[in-house]
Amino acid sequence: MRVLVTGGAGYIGSHAALRLLEDGHSVSVVDSLERGHARTIEILKDVAGDRLEFLRADLADTDALTDLLTRNEHDLAMHFAALTYVGESVERPLDYFRTNTAGGISLLTAMKCAGVRRLIFSSTCATYGEPSPEFVPIGEETPQNPINPYGRSKLQFEEVLRAEVANPKDPTPLAVVALRYFNVAGCDAGGRIGEDHRPESHLIPICLEVALGKREHLTIFGEDYPTADGTCIRDYVHVEDLISAHLAAVDALEPGRFKRWNVGIGRGYSVREVLESCRRVTGHAIPAVRGMRRPGDPPRLYADPSAIARDLGWSANWTDLDAIVATAWRWMQANPRGYG
Ligand code: UFG
Repeated sequence: MRVLVTGGAGYIGSHAALRLLEDGHSVSVVDSLERGHARTIEILKDVAGDRLEFLRADLADTDALTDLLTRNEHDLAMHFAALTYVGESVERPLDYFRTNTAGGISLLTAMKCAGVRRLIFSSTCATYGEPSPEFVPIGEETPQNPINPYGRSKLQFEEVLRAEVANPKDPTPLAVVALRYFNVAGCDAGGRIGEDHRPESHLIPICLEVALGKREHLTIFGEDYPTADGTCIRDYVHVEDLISAHLAAVDALEPGRFKRWNVGIGRGYSVREVLESCRRVTGHAIPAVRGMRRPGDPPRLYADPSAIARDLGWSANWTDLDAIVATAWRWMQANPRGYG
């Protein structure tokens, strides 16, 4: 198949593109390179030769997207391109709604013009906001009440998609799967591509940057949460498992249907547990200091992955946190300056 991968030069999108190419598919990557890395495209080209097409464009450029989609027949789109920092979204809400909501609408418009009617959308557990304890672990029926513009912008695009699949006048109804990710971690087990956010705000890469000597310490954002060790609990899913969920979702696409699944391993680790794992994997002391709570951080977020297991036969292969961290550490050691 030929797949449009938006955000294919970014962390998760590049892992999707790599897997699709390795499986023999053709891929069109569209990325503005605002947050993505040109170097990933070179790496993907080495894998793919002429099965990879790259377009540097913003999601807002509907004409460029339409042109790309019509030049070759595309079977579906996987939509990863987004702004994804919770804290930044509070300070730049317009950018978040422009990229994540309006950008998605631009993509849908181009898909309609080009006759591409299948979409897998990267949604997020941030759409659930701060679920009350009876909703943790989090199933798909948990009420969606985002507490920051990031989660809200992603939920809004889910709503756009729901309306579009239900369009009674559409002669070729849209088919959508939204995957609501928990905390994505780790890197390509082959060590070719990795995670390089600028600025970096995620827990595991920050711990590893301390081990690498790029930072002095980890600041733990709050040790007074109502959890066993007082730090926040998250569900860390390996990026390769996440991409497997996307491939499983392709077969579930159905015209006129909006389907959604949570993607997590179903087990939470506290910030302190993640820190200990990074210490074990790197053999470095990784100093940590106590910090203030970070606004918008719910105490406990982990998935109930039973629906995706039942419906798509998906479950995580990477369930050992140390093994997940080790893939990230391997890439970071080999690429101490990230993509340069
Ligand atoms: N944390 C620290 N210190 C740091 C960085 C993070 O204590 O320097 C803590 C956070 O407070 C949080 C946990 O580590 O409790 C995980 O934080 P991350 O920033 O790694 O991840 P988030 O849970 O905030 O957000 C990530 C993605 C979002 C996604 C969300 C779903 O960035 O896009 O997971 O849980 F929506």
